Amino acid sequence: MARVALVCTFLFVVLCAAAGHENGCEAAGCSSGAAGDGGYFHYLGERHATVPFIPAGVTAAGPATRSKGGSLIVAGATGAIGREVVCAAVANANIRRVVALSRRPIPASEWRSVFGAGLDETAAATKLTVQAVDWNRMNLYYSPTSPAGRLDAAVQAAFQGHDYAAMCMATTKKDAGSAEAFRLCDLLYVEAFGKAVMAESRGSIQHFVQISSAGASSTSWFLYLKTKGEADDAIAAMGFPRLTILRPGLLDRGDKARFIEKVGMCVIGGLPVASAGAATVLSLVDPATQAKAFAAGASMPPGVFFLYDSQILAISPKPVKK
Ligand SMILES: NC(=O)c1ccc[n+]([C@@H]2O[C@H](COP(=O)([O-])OP(=O)(O)OC[C@H]3O[C@@H](n4cnc5c(N)ncnc54)[C@H](OP(=O)(O)O)[C@@H]3O)[C@@H](O)[C@H]2O)c1
Repeated sequence: MARVALVCTFLFVVLCAAAGHENGCEAAGCSSGAAGDGGYFHYLGERHATVPFIPAGVTAAGPATRSKGGSLIVAGATGAIGREVVCAAVANANIRRVVALSRRPIPASEWRSVFGAGLDETAAATKLTVQAVDWNRMNLYYSPTSPAGRLDAAVQAAFQGHDYAAMCMATTKKDAGSAEAFRLCDLLYVEAFGKAVMAESRGSIQHFVQISSAGASSTSWFLYLKTKGEADDAIAAMGFPRLTILRPGLLDRGDKARFIEKVGMCVIGGLPVASAGAATVLSLVDPATQAKAFAAGASMPPGVFFLYDSQILAISPKPVKK
């Protein structure tokens, strides 16, 4: 199995290099196909069918243990993983409030088209709020070297009173237009989000989940992996009571898949974004189930948990071999 994963990683790095992506290793584990829709996906050479996910101990009505539920703020809520997080959170009886941050205002009439058909619109009507954020302004406000400006009152209020936070924002050097613009989003905006959560929800925040990448390391020679590693380190240094860092390999991003990702998925498959979204929400509200994903002997810094493809799949929709 380890050899298969190694070969998958090698193949994808080669594919990315051929396409000129500096984010070379947006991959490692791997699968493909639509998720969360009763479809199929491939993982490490095996074909699986997705099935509806009901976490242990959770019924449609939700566990009796937390009738009130927690509050979640999501950055990058309109992205491939972010919107899955929003849908899973809105559907989760353990969550009473979801604040989705977006670059632009999104009226309720557009929620289904932005967040996808998986959005429970009835639950969303009472739980979901979409808040537009000017990330540049946010970044200036929380700048470590030259803080400037002030936060919009509505944005500040949107950050208050949360139990959980999920960082799903990201771009690529190609989409951003330069290495600096890429780092602005994937490092500085991530840091600004963490600081805002810490500052505004200091008394209530319990758990922060960050979507990172397999191979992320602040010592990497690759811009993408180095930046993701630095962002993980920056959030870890903030001292959240509990931090979970998802490090998926190649993602199956559905209708958002880029050309090179489609090529990669044809060869090695990709992890369904619905699995990453479900794992994110379940990790947030049910750390006990998350803990079951770790093999005996896994070593982690206190309070920091890394989920790679195998752990993400272990706690997200259970694959059924066909
Ligand atoms: N692609 C892969 O195979 C892969 C593999 C491993 C890990 N990852 C990681 O997984 C995470 C989530 O990826 P994803 O596929 O869900 O990303 P995505 O679909 O590209 O979504 C990115 C989100 O970030 C927002 N965003 C992009 N550029 C921004 C900017 N300059 N300022 C503010 N917001 C911005 C987008 O907003 P708009 O909707 O307004 O554009 C969107 O909400 C990322 O950390 C990524 O690095 C990806």
